[in-house]
Amino acid sequence: MKKVTLITGVTGQDGAYLSKFLLDQGYEVHGLLRRSASADVVDARLKWLGINGKIKLHDGNLTDLSGLIRVMQEVRPAEVYNLAAQSFVKSSWQQPLLTGQVTGVGAANMLEAVRIACPEARFYQASSSEMFGLIQEPVQSETTPFYPRSPYAAAKLYAHWMTVNYRESFHMHASSGILFNHESPLRGIEFVTRKITDGVARIKLGLEKTLALGNLDAKRDWGHARDYVKAMWLMLQQDKPDDYVIATGRTASVREFCQLAFGHVGLKMEDHVVVDERFLRPAEVDVLLGNPAKAKQKLGWAPETSLEDLVGEMVEADLQRLRGQEHL
Ligand code: NAP
Ligand code: GDD
Repeated sequence: MKKVTLITGVTGQDGAYLSKFLLDQGYEVHGLLRRSASADVVDARLKWLGINGKIKLHDGNLTDLSGLIRVMQEVRPAEVYNLAAQSFVKSSWQQPLLTGQVTGVGAANMLEAVRIACPEARFYQASSSEMFGLIQEPVQSETTPFYPRSPYAAAKLYAHWMTVNYRESFHMHASSGILFNHESPLRGIEFVTRKITDGVARIKLGLEKTLALGNLDAKRDWGHARDYVKAMWLMLQQDKPDDYVIATGRTASVREFCQLAFGHVGLKMEDHVVVDERFLRPAEVDVLLGNPAKAKQKLGWAPETSLEDLVGEMVEADLQRLRGQEHL
């Protein structure tokens, strides 16, 4: 019998890579799909990976508990991955309450749905390094205190502690992955890495001359989404649920990411990048750097993709898309 899994956020970057990974492991993969008027493009990422017809999709929204319970009763998953969220930090200042409802309370809805409909299911919560915010230690690990700096981070912190609380209160197999930034050719275009690689490809092809960015000095610990979804799965294969930091242990600035991306196509960022205040944030997370030692020791997980290879893969994918006029 195939193991059955349910993924929320299945149309997002991580949902797509995790679906591919679980299908390859022989799972029957179900996904929660929120209703959209643009039904023809919602599964663009799944199409990109060639798996769009292989996932059973269920109508539902993280804010609708009764609908989530019904999906859970129908699917009866052995593993639940809660990846759905309003995940763009900058938007969370424009939509703080929506972000709280989806990213925070939505996770609590998922925990309730699992507790009510399939309490034996193993649960993964997509926590975030953004919760470290104004960092309290130069290298962040599972024991570093949190200091959220955005409505998004505050919502994620609520979801994180609810996951811990349900584990301790109801003995649920609920784990939380504190994932540092992870990128890929399937990254949303609003996030800085993809904005850069798309911009570089446009400039290289003569479609644009400049790329407008915000804070070039912000530093992030960037990995590849394909590597990080394996860590999610490994967490649910452990006898005991727990929390894990998933990171590369290397940090680089937005400026350095730009230099790598422009350099990949033989251009110089200084000739094209302009700073535009519209892309600055009310409060910034200046630097993130994770220590994945616990994941290495207990899960046997390690990142497999260097920053240079990640940047190269993203730039090449954007060149390919623009040449082929593919929409993603
Ligand atoms: P993403 O590409 O933005 O995907 C978010 C997913 O959530 C999409 O499938 C979206 O559906 C879905 N969604 C949004 N609101 C929903 C709602 N109300 N009900 C049901 N589904 C809803 O995010 P990602 O990069 O894959 O990240 C996956 C998760 O990990 C998120 O929770 C994110 O906050 C967290 N995380 C990400 C990173 C990172 O660097 N990528 C790091 C740490 C944590 P639509 O397609 O319909 O919009
Ligand atoms: N988006 C964006 N656009 N960011 C810019 C820009 C720009 O034009 N210019 C500079 N930045 C800076 C931001 O100020 C931030 O410091 C950094 O680039 C990264 O921004 P994002 O790529 O939007 O990601 P994020 O770090 O805010 O959030 C991502 O990572 C979190 C994990 O730490 C998201 O994936 C979150 O969902 C995730 O939890």
